[in-house]
Amino acid sequence: MKDIDISPQDQPPADNSEPRGGAIAEEVIDFAVDAAQRAGRITLQWYQQRSLSVSAKSDGTPVTEADYAAERLLRSEISAAYPDDSVWGEEEGVSAGRTGRSWVIDPIDGTKAFVQGVPLYATLLALVDGQGPAVGVICLPALDECVWAGRGRGAYWNGVPCRVSEHAGLDGAYVCTSGLSYWPEPALERVRAAGARVRTWGDAYGYALVATGRAEAMVDPECFDWDVAAMPVIMAEAGGRFSNTSGSPEWRSGSAAASNGLLHDDLLACLR
Ligand code: IPD
Ligand code: CA
Ligand code: CA
Repeated sequence: MKDIDISPQDQPPADNSEPRGGAIAEEVIDFAVDAAQRAGRITLQWYQQRSLSVSAKSDGTPVTEADYAAERLLRSEISAAYPDDSVWGEEEGVSAGRTGRSWVIDPIDGTKAFVQGVPLYATLLALVDGQGPAVGVICLPALDECVWAGRGRGAYWNGVPCRVSEHAGLDGAYVCTSGLSYWPEPALERVRAAGARVRTWGDAYGYALVATGRAEAMVDPECFDWDVAAMPVIMAEAGGRFSNTSGSPEWRSGSAAASNGLLHDDLLACLR
């Protein structure tokens, strides 16, 4: 599991397992989708600039001025609309709140793809409240796609309701991942032996593929909380399932497995 330097009092509410509880207000979903899309559009100003300045963070991962600009815009939108909510962003850390609600931001998920001019990066925004993951947005600016969900309000792909696939079993299933090097070799072997087609259509893009029925599963044996905060509610509302690779619905545990639900237990059996 990756290290995250966030002190306990700054973290989103502890009650953060599978989405449940009451439906979230439509206006909050609308706000989140609009804000994520606006931040995503900002990233396009830098996308495909071969001269983009890239620096390395303390953990060695890359960050660009576009990451900072997108996160700044999201923070400013959130603090204007919901000034008492806390905000937790990958690049700028935590701003405390007093509502028990937390917004979680990954301004560019897939910075390496972004820097390479590959369109599979995303801007991610999530809202977590006392009842768990409440809103999730995967904005894919360079693909002009956006997948989102709000608890009790359904999942959408560019405004049209979306749903996971109906493919049962791992045989012939498309299983996506952000990188094969994160996998324990025996787990990868078991998934392949079960007949799955493993593809590195990864980062948030892989979760978007699952939520829209274009792939059956997405696995991240290692991830940060902001990589996956948007995913539990999107998967639940799209009819799928989200857990960590041990099967726990806890999303803040450093690994993630999302699927159409039908093959989730078979997938977990391979991953454990
Ligand atoms: C990372 C990317 C990478 C994955 C890491 C993520 P970032 O996010 O998604 O492919 O392997 O787990 O942290 O740094 O591009 O936002
Ligand atoms: Ca990320
Ligand atoms: Ca990022």
